[in-house]
Amino acid sequence: MYIHQCAQSVIKGSHQSMAKITIQNLSGREIVVQDFSKPALIQFGLSQLDWMHACGGKGRCTTCRFIVMEGANHLAPLTKAEERYREQNLLQLNERLACQAIVLEDIVISVPDDCKLPHLDYSE
Ligand code: FES
Repeated sequence: MYIHQCAQSVIKGSHQSMAKITIQNLSGREIVVQDFSKPALIQFGLSQLDWMHACGGKGRCTTCRFIVMEGANHLAPLTKAEERYREQNLLQLNERLACQAIVLEDIVISVPDDCKLPHLDYSE
């Protein structure tokens, strides 16, 4: 299993102990990540933020996609599911799957238009 250098530091208790996901088109809403073993989708749920996830977070759709605006290198590498969608051109170079992507340091993201939930107010 891949463990990012930053996560290793967290495990050892040496430095950064949290990260922040800023969602640009949800009025800059910030989600704090303290458990670096769980993907973004779980972090959203822990913060009571609804997020599209048609397959239940199993990496079998792409409805949980987000666009990485800043900090692409602050995410753990693509999972096999993400690599498969990349190869099929269903996951763009600036996109990740929330049910797969582990956030290790601060990132800024945006929700693609086709992944927006009807009951949430998006700011753009
Ligand atoms: S919820 Fe289906 S791929 Fe992430």
